[in-house]
Amino acid sequence: MEQTDRMSSNEINPANNPAARTVASTQSEMTEIILPNDTNTLGNLLGGRLMHFIDLTGAMAAFRHSRTHVVTAAMDHIDFIRPVRLGDLVTLKSSVNRAFTSSMEVGVKVWAENTRTGGVVHVASAYLVFVAVDEHGRLQKVPQLKPETLDEIRRHADALRRREHRESEHARRKGERLVTAALEEAESGG
Ligand SMILES: CC(C)(COP(=O)(O)OP(=O)(O)OC[C@H]1O[C@@H](n2cnc3c(N)ncnc32)[C@H](O)[C@@H]1OP(=O)(O)O)[C@@H](O)C(=O)NCCC(=O)NCCS
Repeated sequence: MEQTDRMSSNEINPANNPAARTVASTQSEMTEIILPNDTNTLGNLLGGRLMHFIDLTGAMAAFRHSRTHVVTAAMDHIDFIRPVRLGDLVTLKSSVNRAFTSSMEVGVKVWAENTRTGGVVHVASAYLVFVAVDEHGRLQKVPQLKPETLDEIRRHADALRRREHRESEHARRKGERLVTAALEEAESGG
């Protein structure tokens, strides 16, 4: 089925959405204090907990861009650069890098602040793809993104390259799954 057939007829609600938004209008931020429940046996923040914070902060930027429901389609290229310690303040900042048809690539950057020394270090970065859907799960068209600064223009171009890479990897993995399924069926005599 064509993607356009699967989009809600009310693709962009003009009351909520202009044809294009700026990156600045999508910028989002959250800060968390790291408590014992968030840490592993070494007293460092659990990777999965940090990914949860990244997902939430990323979704905030996607919500601000699309003004509708969003689901996480992919989280890729996450670098855990330094550990975050119990008691640190973790700040996450996100913004949309590029909008496609129903999907948006969002970049999230994470810093940890040592509350005793005040030192702040960059601890992680990630790229996520969110897809805009309506309350019935139908794809929604999102406004285009208008990059303004040199950094925003660079991130906009990089996001297209990452999308192309993601699509070719997706097709490769899908091909592998089909081959595995065919081999399993042949082995079981089906
Ligand atoms: C994401 C989802 C809505 C896509 O639906 P789909 O039927 O595969 O839709 P399509 O193949 O037509 O793709 C729709 C858009 O999603 C993007 N997309 C789909 N799968 C993707 C993936 N794995 N990575 C990046 N983008 C993806 C497509 O590129 C397309 O973007 P565009 O409209 O901007 O061109 C669907 O796969 C889904 O609901 N996944 C589960 C989401 C979820 O529950 N997330 C939480 C995980 S715990």
